[in-house]
Amino acid sequence: MSTEYSKNQIEALQEKAKRHLWLHFTRMSSYAAADMPVIVRGEGNYVYDQHGKRYLDGLAGLFVSQIGHGRTEVAEAGARQASELAYFPLWSYAHPQAIELAERLATKAPGDLNRVFFTSSGSEAVESAWKLAKQYFKAIGQPGRYKVLSRSIAYHGTSLGALAITGLPGIKEPFEPLPAGGIRVPNTNFYRAPEFVADDEAAFGLWAADEIERAILREGEDSVAAVFLEPVQNSGGCFPPPPGYFERVREICDRYGVLLVSDEVICAFGRLGYYFGSERYGYQPDIITFAKGVTSGYAPLGGMLVADHLMEPFSTGHATFLHGVTFAGHPVSCAVAMANLDVFEKEDLLGNVRANEAAFRATLEKLYDLPIVGNIRGDGYFYGIEMVKNKETRETFDDDESERLLRGFLSTALFDAGLVCRADDRGDPVIQLSPPLTCGQDQFNEMEQILRSVLTEAWARI
Ligand SMILES: Cc1ncc(COP(=O)(O)O)c(C=O)c1O
Repeated sequence: MSTEYSKNQIEALQEKAKRHLWLHFTRMSSYAAADMPVIVRGEGNYVYDQHGKRYLDGLAGLFVSQIGHGRTEVAEAGARQASELAYFPLWSYAHPQAIELAERLATKAPGDLNRVFFTSSGSEAVESAWKLAKQYFKAIGQPGRYKVLSRSIAYHGTSLGALAITGLPGIKEPFEPLPAGGIRVPNTNFYRAPEFVADDEAAFGLWAADEIERAILREGEDSVAAVFLEPVQNSGGCFPPPPGYFERVREICDRYGVLLVSDEVICAFGRLGYYFGSERYGYQPDIITFAKGVTSGYAPLGGMLVADHLMEPFSTGHATFLHGVTFAGHPVSCAVAMANLDVFEKEDLLGNVRANEAAFRATLEKLYDLPIVGNIRGDGYFYGIEMVKNKETRETFDDDESERLLRGFLSTALFDAGLVCRADDRGDPVIQLSPPLTCGQDQFNEMEQILRSVLTEAWARI
């Protein structure tokens, strides 16, 4: 299939895009003089722009395309469903696709997370989990519990409730005041650990977990409803949990009757070599939020998996969870999710991640010989590379340098060199990689080579 557009088509698209399209989290002024990147097609681990140029999709779109691009069997499952029943709501009715998918997800989920509440996105999933926690505690006679704890720098979505849980002041400030009750605890970046635990990762993990207990006591133990944590924290650059962290967090949650919500919008569906990140790290959440990889992006879908005891107050009498959205559990999305999971099973994608993650890590770690590479961290197919000004002291870049490095150079240079990834400075400056789960050594090498040449040039420009 040709992906090349004619010169006229390209110009027409650019003109319409510049006049009418508003990109998310994007400085639109950057495209006043320059062309917007336009991706027109995907195949396997690669995507193609309108000129026919190929890019390795090192971010799976946006942590989404687990099975890679161009899977006709998944697309066809969606098309078949649209012909049979394109839409019906989950308000008062069910449809077979939501039923089958709910059962399949519950079977895969850890412990007694047997109930699935669908949404259409990750933010809605997070928002739904907070609303459920609030209504649940009111229903069981603990109406004072409404606060939620989450880690600083952690991203949990952009709708107002989810944004109140997000720990990035820069993207919250324009929308203040946000719903009350979002409380921050320290994140788990061991590379930047406080000095008194900097030599001992296990001690660091316990300290960070105990900070959750201190926050609960500070806020009032009867006022805290839930703790929201990702298995590997994405924002800030892929912080895997320190040893013992989740075990201690679970103990603390149990001690104070606080719910543990595992926000797995990125970490579920194979990103860490398991269907759920909590499974990889061996902890039992009360709620798992998911989205993205559940359909590998062939249609939008999100949701939460909920423990039996949280459903109990809603399973008798007049009790109703007073929440819903029109497109949640869309039949086409559910059919696509089932076909996506079929691919996971047929091709043993979890096995592929587990078999190759050490090679992925080892290939990226070759970059440690570059002076700008301070720390490489992550698990599974999910890595962050933190860039530093001084490897010995771990000195980071100031705001101006970061701006010049990331926005002025790296983002464009990596893309121009044929790699889709993310250069981010919402914490310290990092490059993030989260490729399709179908990648292997050839793609790891390609990522390493592109990063090597672009990071070498970046260092020369500092
Ligand atoms: C951990 C986490 N939670 C929630 C969200 C929000 O998901 P969405 O963009 O689908 O609303 C994201 C998005 O990246 C995320 O990474």
